[in-house]
Amino acid sequence: MTHLDTRRRQFLQYAAVGTMTAALPGFVFAESTQINDEPNSTFKADVEIELTAQIAELPILPGAHTHVFTYQGKLLKGPQATLKDLPGYLGPMLNFVQGQKVRIYFYNRLSEPCITHWHGMHVPQKMDGHPMYAISQGERYVYEFEVKNPAGTNWYHAHTHEMTATQVYQGLAGLITITDEAEQKLDLPSGEYDIPLVIQDRHFTNGNQLRYVHGMRQRMTGFLGDTILINGQANNTIPVKTRAYRLRILNGSNSRIYKLGWKDGTPLTAIGTDGGLLEKPETFPYIMLAPAERVELWVDFSGRKPGTDLILQNLEYKSAIPHMGGGMRHGGGMGRMGMMAGGLAQGKPFPVVKFHITEQVTDSPRLPDKLVPIHRLTTKDLSNPGKTLSIALSMRHMSPQLNGRSFEMQDYVDSEKIPVNTLQKIRIFHDNKSMGGGMGMMMSMPHPIHLHGQQFQILSRTQNNQDNGYKTVKDGFINSGWKDTVLVMPGEDVEIIKPFADYTGLFLYHCHNLEHEDMGMMRNFYVS
Ligand code: C2O
Ligand code: CU
Ligand code: CU
Repeated sequence: MTHLDTRRRQFLQYAAVGTMTAALPGFVFAESTQINDEPNSTFKADVEIELTAQIAELPILPGAHTHVFTYQGKLLKGPQATLKDLPGYLGPMLNFVQGQKVRIYFYNRLSEPCITHWHGMHVPQKMDGHPMYAISQGERYVYEFEVKNPAGTNWYHAHTHEMTATQVYQGLAGLITITDEAEQKLDLPSGEYDIPLVIQDRHFTNGNQLRYVHGMRQRMTGFLGDTILINGQANNTIPVKTRAYRLRILNGSNSRIYKLGWKDGTPLTAIGTDGGLLEKPETFPYIMLAPAERVELWVDFSGRKPGTDLILQNLEYKSAIPHMGGGMRHGGGMGRMGMMAGGLAQGKPFPVVKFHITEQVTDSPRLPDKLVPIHRLTTKDLSNPGKTLSIALSMRHMSPQLNGRSFEMQDYVDSEKIPVNTLQKIRIFHDNKSMGGGMGMMMSMPHPIHLHGQQFQILSRTQNNQDNGYKTVKDGFINSGWKDTVLVMPGEDVEIIKPFADYTGLFLYHCHNLEHEDMGMMRNFYVS
């Protein structure tokens, strides 16, 4: 499959210089499908980084090292703090400043195709890591973009056709932070008091090797592991002082959805979402964090005794456990849908990370009342107020789809054409009509829907099912602030408002349950 795509790509490249171009289907993209393997001399980079996808043997669990994929980074130009290696198998943290011009030389040293996407970043199509740009072993892709996003936490990961789930699972992911002037004025906890927390669930063999279970069941629910890694490591204890911290949490799991809460019942204070800081801090009894979503927390350990612990937990919830429809009467393992060997089903409780208070200090900063101004988008701002784009979540022949269609590399239909520099309303909902075959299961599954390009705002959430499970999750959604991924629970109808500014071309939208994505629950918008 991948080879075919590579050949097609090369074919299109050759065709672009010939005269037969116009006769090819999809010829408009012939030029834009070319691999960008040389830097553009007119792009004056402030920061230059080399990032290599390669294999490695790293210590994750006590004992034998684990065979992983990892991004190896090297700073070629720019401030020293731009690149920070983390212990564990994740790629280095990339720390950018708004306005910086960044050039990244991405090398693939894996024996399979690969391409990297900067999740959450507003960049041109050719710099976005669309799977049509996958490069083979030994090739390179040169990314060049200006950092337009405001301060916040984004991430990068492999986005290879039908291999995103396995490549991310094996380690091809890393965090991106962005800072800007507005954030710096706030004096938020920084340096050692600004802690990244990438949460991932994995499954290991007795020999400490990553095991990826890929049976039919895991394909439907997505992969669920029984070992929680924090920042690519199995050590889940973080030493802290009695003061305020900023936690940048990313759910980097393939399909596990977390319901995060402090074990002692302390409410969580959110200061940021996917797209950056909130207008003001908001408190929640718990926060739902679906794959690819980020949340930034303010946590103040002042007043806690050295020697004590505060535990961030995954709390129990019901809504996401798939109920089978009438279709699979003979499926012997029905009651165990979504369950892994270790028994850590979706929605089951477990500790995520433990903060161990080690030291008494007195210099704690105060939580600001106001963070950054956010212009609230309303339907009055829409370019075409009468029009709503639809993303219907449906299921056909055991494949999750969007608007009844599966992913095709460069395919889009009329309803997926969006005029550039417009603001669109998009409704994301479960399409129960297309539930052919009597399989209701997918309908009752949550889907974290991600749109590439600019961040959006949530206009409304409507729950159509009067089901008790929803009560266990409903207070954990952050609906203010900028988002690039929204969790659509069973029975939910979510309206968002999204700008499509600056850049034309193909931009993906997909389910960020990575198994669903690789099964084709992904489409292109064509912005022109
Ligand atoms: Cu995080 Cu299209 O991906
Ligand atoms: Cu993305
Ligand atoms: Cu999905």
